[in-house]
Amino acid sequence: MTDLLIKNATLVNDNDTFEADLRVRAGRIDQIGADIAAMAGETVIDGAGCWLMPGMIDDQVHFREPGLTDKADMASESRAAVAGGITSFMDMPNVKPPTIDHEALVAKLDMARGRCAANYGFHLGATNDNIEAIKRVDGTRAAGVKIFMGASTGKMLVDDDAALEAIFEHSPLPILTHCEDTPMIEANADKARAAYGEDVPIRQHPVIRSREACIASSKKAMDLATRHAARLHILHITTAEELALFAAGPMADKNITAEACIHHLFFSEDDYDRLGALIKCNPAIKTEADRQAILKAVADDVIDVLATDHAPHARADKDNPYFSAPAGLPLVQHAVPSLVDQVSVGYFTIEQLVTKMAHNVADRFDIVDRGYLREGYWADLVLVDPRGRTVVDDEPVLAKCGWTPFAGHSFNARVKTTVVSGQLAYHDGKLSQGCIGEALAYDR
Ligand code: DOR
Repeated sequence: MTDLLIKNATLVNDNDTFEADLRVRAGRIDQIGADIAAMAGETVIDGAGCWLMPGMIDDQVHFREPGLTDKADMASESRAAVAGGITSFMDMPNVKPPTIDHEALVAKLDMARGRCAANYGFHLGATNDNIEAIKRVDGTRAAGVKIFMGASTGKMLVDDDAALEAIFEHSPLPILTHCEDTPMIEANADKARAAYGEDVPIRQHPVIRSREACIASSKKAMDLATRHAARLHILHITTAEELALFAAGPMADKNITAEACIHHLFFSEDDYDRLGALIKCNPAIKTEADRQAILKAVADDVIDVLATDHAPHARADKDNPYFSAPAGLPLVQHAVPSLVDQVSVGYFTIEQLVTKMAHNVADRFDIVDRGYLREGYWADLVLVDPRGRTVVDDEPVLAKCGWTPFAGHSFNARVKTTVVSGQLAYHDGKLSQGCIGEALAYDR
């Protein structure tokens, strides 16, 4: 492991921005200060003009292992992630077999060891009947408990009210919910079938996966969490009405937190004509007014966490008729550039970005020694040139599926360097060979 010295960067940390040098030794942040002199054997990186931030901790990805590795795998997607400034990921349980008990969780941890370019963690999935597995989950090895309160990719819907009550009452870990009311969606789908047959226009996606379905389900999750005093994190919020349900302010004061994802911050329903089912995802991308409301909610500290929901599918499958085109899109490779670009437009500040892509995620999931620029913490870093450009078409697509919804677009920001647990993972457009992430540890 080479030791690193990053000189002259503008550090963004703890709601503050200041110029300093940062030294990395033996995987950890060794020193933060002015004018640190280079030592023999150290790799020196010039960070002048760049922001040095804790790397993004993405609490919601679908890297498709085990069982769906024709779409993606942990090795391929974690390489795409570090190119996008992500230093740690938490993977979702809708794989084959699903991650719904201790054995499946440990199998995934074993699968990840030595193969991921980023640090890794895994959520346990809830089902209608695995409450005993949830009660017994080892909180030092699982990140959280994911509940599909709306059906999506995989068959993991939890729709039994007694099961939901029990999960919210007993989960020892933070609960993450996908909120969409499935009976409402099914009724809308029946209406669309009656009107269009199987060839439903993609513009109908947010009509079928409607805002009402999101609002009803988010309200239900909040009611459950409030009654059971559970720690609830509602994933990928897509409507202005749901945003109005959450409190604004620092995350430390909240038991119920809200997340926004980069595609919902970037695309609106106006993009369906151009991109078709490539941007079909659940919950659906909704109106431009919703997009603006989500961006404002980031600035107003209503949104606590920013994530990707990276969910790759084969490009050819996206050409299927509406009902059989899979939902989800690959996003990790452009995560931090897209968010820093939105800072440059003035939607939210760079300090808020760091809070929501790193600090709050580490705090929410009790992650040990990561998510902040602090001496003694693991060196998980992203160095971003805010005056640089990421021209998407000029670079290889790293996700295994080989396509990106951002084709043809340029971001006004560039990831210069990503450091994972003290190792150079990505630098000046090149992935390092041999960068190996660690398992996340949780202080519980
Ligand atoms: O669009 C989505 N795709 N939403 C989800 O909830 C699941 C994901 C997937 O796994 O493909």
